[in-house]
Amino acid sequence: MSTHQSLSIVMVDLKKQYLQMKEEIDAAIQRVIDSTAFINGDEVRSFAEELADYLKVKHVIPCANGTDALQISLMALGLSESDEIIVPDFTYAASAEAIGLLGLTPVPVDVDPATFNISLIECEKALSDKTKAIIPVHLFGQSCDMEPLRRFAQDNGLYMIEDNAQAIGCEYTFTDGSTHKTGTMGHLGCTSFFPSKNLGCYGDGGAITTNNDALAERARMIANHGQRIKYKHEIIGCNSRLDSIQAAVLRVKLQHLDRFNALRREVAGHYTKYLADVAWLKTP
Ligand SMILES: Cc1ncc(COP(=O)(O)O)c(C=O)c1O
Repeated sequence: MSTHQSLSIVMVDLKKQYLQMKEEIDAAIQRVIDSTAFINGDEVRSFAEELADYLKVKHVIPCANGTDALQISLMALGLSESDEIIVPDFTYAASAEAIGLLGLTPVPVDVDPATFNISLIECEKALSDKTKAIIPVHLFGQSCDMEPLRRFAQDNGLYMIEDNAQAIGCEYTFTDGSTHKTGTMGHLGCTSFFPSKNLGCYGDGGAITTNNDALAERARMIANHGQRIKYKHEIIGCNSRLDSIQAAVLRVKLQHLDRFNALRREVAGHYTKYLADVAWLKTP
C-alpha cells in the first residue's frame, strides 16, 4: 500500500457555505421566481443600494461579470486607440484583456514581491506621454498601497480604475487616518461576483463602483446598450446585466461578507504559521 495519500483541498467550500445560509438563500431565490422579475427590478436595485451603503460609495452599477466591469469602465473614460494603460503583469488575464479588447495598449509593469501588488517604482518607469490610466489590482484580498499610487495618478493626470475582483470588503488606511474600502478610491472600481470570490453569487456577476456622477451615468448607459431612455441609443454600449436571482443571493451573502473575510484571514494565518519552516516558501 502506498504511504502517500492524496489530499484535495477546495479553495472555497461553497457547499458548506450554502448549507450555513440555506434557508435565507432558498427563500431569496424563491422570492425572485414568485415575482417573475428575472431581469432588473427590485432585487437588483436593492442589492446595488445595499452594496453602495456597505462600501460607502455613491454609485454601484451592477453588470454581468468582472471582465465586463473592467471593459465598461474603460469605455466610460472615452479613451482612444493609441492610449496606454498601466496594468500589473501579475494578475488575472481579465485585467489586461479588457484593455486589449478595446484596442487600447496595455503596459504591463512588475509587482512588489512582498505583496504581489503593483509596484509604484515600476509605474513611474512605465509612464509615457501616451499613458492615460492605471489599473491597480488588489490581489489575493490585499489592498494596493493606494496613497502613493493615487498621488502618482493625480500628479500625472491619469485615470485610476481599481480592479477589486479579489478584495471586496478590504480596507485601506491613509496617513490622515481616514479609511476607505477598496474599489472606492480611484475614479472607478470593478468587482466580480464569480462564485469563489469573497462575495460570490451562484453564477456570473459583477459591478462597477464610483463616486463620480458623470462616469456613473456613462457606465450605466454603456452597460444598457448605450441607452439612458428606453430605445434611445445614444452611444455604443453592450448588454451587461446582473440577473435578479444573482442579486437576491448576493443580498443574503453581503450580510455575511465581513465574517467570510475574517474566516479567510484566519485560514491564511494558519498557512503562514504552519508553512513558516519551509525555507524556500514565502506566504504573502
Ligand atoms: C483580478 C481579477 N480581475 C478580473 C476578474 C474577472 O472577473 P469575472 O470572472 O467575473 O469576469 C477576475 C476573476 O477571476 C479577477 O480575479
